[in-house]
Amino acid sequence: MSNKRNSKTASEHDQASPVLAISDHPLQAFRSVTRMPIGLDEDVCSRSIEVLNQILADTIALRDLYKKHHWQVAGPTFLPLHELFDKHAAEQNEIVDMLAERVQLLGGVSVAAAADVVELTQVPRPPKEREEVPTQISRLVEAHEIILREARRGARQASEAGDEGTNDLLVSDVVRTNELEVWFISQHLVNVPLSEEQPNH
Ligand SMILES: [Fe+2]
Repeated sequence: MSNKRNSKTASEHDQASPVLAISDHPLQAFRSVTRMPIGLDEDVCSRSIEVLNQILADTIALRDLYKKHHWQVAGPTFLPLHELFDKHAAEQNEIVDMLAERVQLLGGVSVAAAADVVELTQVPRPPKEREEVPTQISRLVEAHEIILREARRGARQASEAGDEGTNDLLVSDVVRTNELEVWFISQHLVNVPLSEEQPNH
């Protein structure tokens, strides 16, 4: 009696089990564009998608660089930099989402997995080793500048093509946020003494 009940329970359990099915037929190929009813020509969408995916890969790399430095920072400025690096990582993470979702709404396929980001990004790979603060910040500034140049170029291209949504995202979110973050971190590299030496009279 109890065996029968157990087997019935087992059978019910089988029906409720998730059916895993990983297909090797993709829904949409990477770099392909599906037509979206948003009043933009396919070639305009295609060019915007290419720029957005490039900046997306670079922004993911920058976000992860901020996390690396957030975890590994050391020295007298540990706490403010530990907190600032994490704040910027969170801001970059929001931009990652905006970029990826714009690629999708334009009919593209957003770059997503770490291995694919590595193939696409122009941000130099940092070493696994822990580094000193000036090196950490210099690496971040270098990555920001790569993104800023690409974002301004992409914004101009999108505006000329009539894709004002992409222009707005690149100017209002990518350029403005990256410029502000460069200011916040680069000021830590200015050599200002904590107190003035008194002149001898
Ligand atoms: Fe943390």
